[in-house]
Amino acid sequence: MRIIIEENYEDMSRTAASIVKDYVSNHPACVLGCATGTTPIGMYQGLVEAHREGKLDFSETRFFNLDEYCGLDPSNDQSYTYFMKEHLFDHINVRPEHIHLPDGMAGDIEAACRRYDAEIERSGGIDLQVVGIGINGHIGFNEPGDCFYPDTHKIALHESTIRANARFFSSIEDVPTEAITMGIRPILQSKMLLFLANGESKIDAVYGALRGPISPRLPASILQLHPNVVAVIDRSAAKRL
Ligand code: GLP
Repeated sequence: MRIIIEENYEDMSRTAASIVKDYVSNHPACVLGCATGTTPIGMYQGLVEAHREGKLDFSETRFFNLDEYCGLDPSNDQSYTYFMKEHLFDHINVRPEHIHLPDGMAGDIEAACRRYDAEIERSGGIDLQVVGIGINGHIGFNEPGDCFYPDTHKIALHESTIRANARFFSSIEDVPTEAITMGIRPILQSKMLLFLANGESKIDAVYGALRGPISPRLPASILQLHPNVVAVIDRSAAKRL
């Protein structure tokens, strides 16, 4: 694992964007695994800027997102579909058929999960996977629990996640209680993994992920088994490393 500690959020974002830019430039038809949350927003801005300057072409790149809330329509501004359009897809030359997110509105969630895994597999798997981390150590919405789930699945969000994500909704009651998340297998099988974290609230989660015992109690700790991780962390989140 390569760990890069940056001074602040802006530097973390710039470094992350340049890693993704290099990857996409060298592998234009790659499969990019995308994360949501506040952490990667600056990185997406960097990618949009590079595209606007004519330096980055996404016409062949395929995108798979880690997760989506259940029961939020894609037009809802808190859905991850909306987030991805707002921060990336609406500003780059991605082909609509190359965009994939789990279908949180599906009538048959189990079938939607199987479809998502099949689409990932048909694409040949994730090449570069970007992940953030929840304050409880989740990746995507793989929440702390008794075991790791390999496949895409529906999950009841942990109380700490609902509390953490309430800042984006008008009230805590509006936060969805369930989500669909990619499982651990495609994340671990990605060719390269870009792990991002910033801010003091992530100190313990980052320490557990990178230095703690590998345990489903802190799902991001499984990333220690990935053979090609680049972790870009700002100084405040890296305090215990
Ligand atoms: C969300 C997402 C995760 C993300 C995490 C951290 O709930 N499901 O993919 O990594 O929480 O969010 P933030 O970057 O806003 O701290």
